[in-house]
Amino acid sequence: MTQLFQRPLQRAVIGTLASVAVLFGLAGSFSAAAETKSREAWKKEYQRPSEVPYPDDNLYTKEKADLGKKLFFDPRLSGADYISCATCHNPSFAWGDGLPTGFGNAMTKLGRRTPTILNTAYGELMMWDGRFESLEEQALGPMAAPAEMNQEMEAIADELRAIPGYRTLFNVAFPGEGLSIDNIAKAIATFERTVISGTAPFDLWIAGEETAISEAAKRGFDLFNGKANCVACHSGWNFTDDSFHDIGIDDDDLGRGEHFKDNVKMQHAFKTPTLRNAVERAPYMHNGTQVTLSDVVAHYNTGGVVRPSLSDEMRPLQLSQQEQDDLVAFMATLSSVDERIAMPLLPPNDQGPAAGLRQTSPAAGPADVAPIDTKCRVARLHLRPCR
Ligand code: HEC
Ligand code: HEC
Repeated sequence: MTQLFQRPLQRAVIGTLASVAVLFGLAGSFSAAAETKSREAWKKEYQRPSEVPYPDDNLYTKEKADLGKKLFFDPRLSGADYISCATCHNPSFAWGDGLPTGFGNAMTKLGRRTPTILNTAYGELMMWDGRFESLEEQALGPMAAPAEMNQEMEAIADELRAIPGYRTLFNVAFPGEGLSIDNIAKAIATFERTVISGTAPFDLWIAGEETAISEAAKRGFDLFNGKANCVACHSGWNFTDDSFHDIGIDDDDLGRGEHFKDNVKMQHAFKTPTLRNAVERAPYMHNGTQVTLSDVVAHYNTGGVVRPSLSDEMRPLQLSQQEQDDLVAFMATLSSVDERIAMPLLPPNDQGPAAGLRQTSPAAGPADVAPIDTKCRVARLHLRPCR
């Protein structure tokens, strides 16, 4: 029922007959709803929003976003100084890493695939299992995680503070506050909210440019919203309902179920990923086991592993090979041709014990921590706390 309430337009189109069916508990009725609605009506459901939402306590400023970009690309944020956020969220792979599951500190193989950060500005809960409630909260997670960037949070603030350029940038981006752990998170989150997928052929098509996508892709769009029922979860311009479902991928990872042990439907449930720029982000799923988009569609065609947690929206689809190819052709139209991302210039390390005080502009402010002892620094960053 909730699902129907989320889509009033669809409800209106279904008409009385289907509403009666809904009353009798056939709410899942899958394709009945979809097929009565025209292609033109469906197109309206995929209009892009005109604005990026920013939270009240972390509104956009260019200074914050520029600083956040430097932090995102700066390997000095990791304990061993060689892994940046962009090592795994690589713009060349549409902000994923192109691996089934990534590698973190000391080449530790991670348990889940690196998701894209594209369009996370619009997301609600972060991570495959939704364990973080905001980008701000999320940003500190990987830095501290031993398997990922293995950083000590107190050490990171000290370390960045010892870099004169960062002192300046934090003072400018956060007047009166300067460099703090919270502000590291706020700057990174602000940058992430600028990482939005650009105009794709699909967007041109729904804006009225009939030749922007192929006939196969248009048939794929109809299937997506109809017989194949993909829209049940991949809804709206960002192709996600921001919710969690078990789509019957066979492995032991309980996903959201680890946090909601008593909720049957949350076992093996993962966050519905956006389908924007999906072509560039292979392989797929939380465990990277589906190599191509054709594999993904073939998986849906089987209906997935049947178990109590399997979503009620999942069932064998009986799609022909042609129909499966059409769905893939449709998904390929969701890739935008974006401007190339320029690597940011990073503030250089201080050149000597007192250099932080001598050589910087007054805007840098004083180095409010004692200069870091080199021996201690090596121990702190690579092996153990330096205390
Ligand atoms: C070693 C690889 C690696 C590094 C480094 C890394 N991430 Fe991630 N990131 C991941 C993985 C894997 C996940 C998903 C983990 C999960 O769901 O359990 C993830 C999830 C995320 C998400 C959630 C996306 C979503 O749709 O829910 C965001 C945002 C994110 N990372 C941002 C960052 C930021 C910011 C940094 C740097 C401070 C960073 N990541 C560093 C691998 C990495
Ligand atoms: C019941 C909800 C649901 C339905 C229906 C559904 N999906 Fe998904 N989709 C998800 C979830 C959840 C995931 C992530 C699952 C995982 O990683 O275990 C996913 C993952 C994907 C991915 C991989 C994206 C990535 O970045 O890893 C693609 C592509 C995809 N779906 C396409 C489709 C298509 C095409 C259809 C229709 C044939 C469809 N989905 C139907 C919920 C759904």
